[in-house]
Amino acid sequence: MESTDFHTAKALLDWQIELGADECMSDAPINRYELPDKLAKPKKAAAEKPHLTRGPVDEQKIDPVAVASQAAASAATLEELRAAMQAFDLCSLKKGARNMVFSDGMAGAPVMIIGEAPGREEDRIGKPFVGAAGQLLDRMFAAIDMGREHAEAPIYITNTLPWRPPQNRDPKPEEIAMMKPFLLRHIELADPKAVVIMGNWACQALLGKRGITRLRGIWTTAVDKPALPMCHPAYLLRNPAAKKEAWADLLSLRAAITA
Ligand code: URA
Repeated sequence: MESTDFHTAKALLDWQIELGADECMSDAPINRYELPDKLAKPKKAAAEKPHLTRGPVDEQKIDPVAVASQAAASAATLEELRAAMQAFDLCSLKKGARNMVFSDGMAGAPVMIIGEAPGREEDRIGKPFVGAAGQLLDRMFAAIDMGREHAEAPIYITNTLPWRPPQNRDPKPEEIAMMKPFLLRHIELADPKAVVIMGNWACQALLGKRGITRLRGIWTTAVDKPALPMCHPAYLLRNPAAKKEAWADLLSLRAAITA
């Protein structure tokens, strides 16, 4: 029999719940007409006893944001941060991903780009922005004479989430919240001169709001760094008319880091 992966199995269960199937069938039929006093009374001890034992119940009590904050704070280098993220098991996206996508380009570059999350190609290869949107991103930065391997004007690239969401769905608020401590520490350790916040989900993580078409082009601050929200290259591929504004934003970025 063909095996079902984690995310497909979860989606199938979610679908059943949507349809109203919120109970498992038991082997023995339940007589719903039986009078209540004939029904077995729940054992008092079991009803009162809190679930304080080992197992999945305990996992629910773990605060993933607190665990992530502690792990991120204890990383003193980018390599330690990568290892801390690799060891972080509380984000379910990790289970469905082939690779963790940490970064690409040159650490210590003056510009750090924050994207959304890996897509299919990024998940396969383990590097951010290597698919169609990534190729446009490379062309955009080449146009201002910058690039991942540019000797004089390198860029450094990461994502809000290091694991691919299934079927490229939008990130969930709890996923962003639990990975945010790692993202903030990533920016601190990479220590760029300016941060480019690519698209709505990076804006959500770093600025606490979305609305990229209003936010783009307006300099702000993220982790004490000058930060420029820009439209995501995937959006530009779908809306070529927005490339004109993206070009203005690139020129603004180039001027800021040259100043
Ligand atoms: N889109 C992103 O935001 N990041 C990637 O790495 C690829 C596509």
